[in-house]
Amino acid sequence: MAPKVLVSDKLSETAVQIFRDRGIDVDFMPDVGKDKEKLAEIIGQYDGLAIRSATKVTETILANAHKLKVIGRAGIGTDNIDKPAASKKGVIVMNTPFGNMVTTAEHAIAMMFAVARQIPDANASTHAGKWEKSKFMGSELTNKTLGIIGIGNIGSVVADRARGLKMKVIAYDPTLSAEKIAEKGAEKVELDDLLARADFITLHTPLLEATRNILSRDALARTKKGVRIVNCARGGLVDEEALAELLKSGHVAGAAFDVFSVEPATDNVLFNLPNVVCTPHLGAATTEAQENVALQVAEQMSNYLLTGA
Ligand code: MLT
Repeated sequence: MAPKVLVSDKLSETAVQIFRDRGIDVDFMPDVGKDKEKLAEIIGQYDGLAIRSATKVTETILANAHKLKVIGRAGIGTDNIDKPAASKKGVIVMNTPFGNMVTTAEHAIAMMFAVARQIPDANASTHAGKWEKSKFMGSELTNKTLGIIGIGNIGSVVADRARGLKMKVIAYDPTLSAEKIAEKGAEKVELDDLLARADFITLHTPLLEATRNILSRDALARTKKGVRIVNCARGGLVDEEALAELLKSGHVAGAAFDVFSVEPATDNVLFNLPNVVCTPHLGAATTEAQENVALQVAEQMSNYLLTGA
């Protein structure tokens, strides 16, 4: 009998086509991921579950997943999956670490420009007919120091683009040697050094015990006055309360956040502060990236279900 896969989030239909082409029986139910009861009721029929970020694969869901062999996350972060519970059941969790790295890096660069030149506020003011030409004084990126926290797949693309913008790039990443970081066009530094030197800081690390609150109240207080902070990685990496206070005091000149400690973020301490740019977790939201991750997840899951590889 053909393996059966459920797509429970809004994945590009490319994925569905690939599953079908590979002879896999697929149900495309993009809204079921948000309906915990329904998902728990039907998950028992499936060998594979393909998701993005809306489906939360909890212990309860897994308890009902009697046939499940693989969960494929079309994207990078697997924090919406209870991985210990999945591994206890022998369910493989796979992601697509490369499919959206360029798109996410581009969003970080776009956010850096947006906060450096106050583009969202200037846009709103111009639409309101105010023509506040002298209000929106910005900062050049050229010759500024960019501090990258985590220079893996996405951080490396950010470093490359930032060097193209003639920025000096320094990076804190305890998992990589100075040589490896130099190959990516950046100088390896300790976190304290990065905090003291960076004009812009951008985070590109997963949320782990070691990285939770990496920009804590204490770390933020050690940043250079006038720093601008970009977070397109994960909520929980930055102490949002402390950042809000430093934005109000003027120590931090601006922040651009795509991710928040609680998502969906319908209320947050950073909202409506001056020179804070916010987007609703759009890091991977381009047609190109969504095609890439859908294609990759469907290929990987099909290979695993059909050949065990
Ligand atoms: C990812 O982990 O791939 C990104 O944060 C994008 C997403 O969650 O949709």
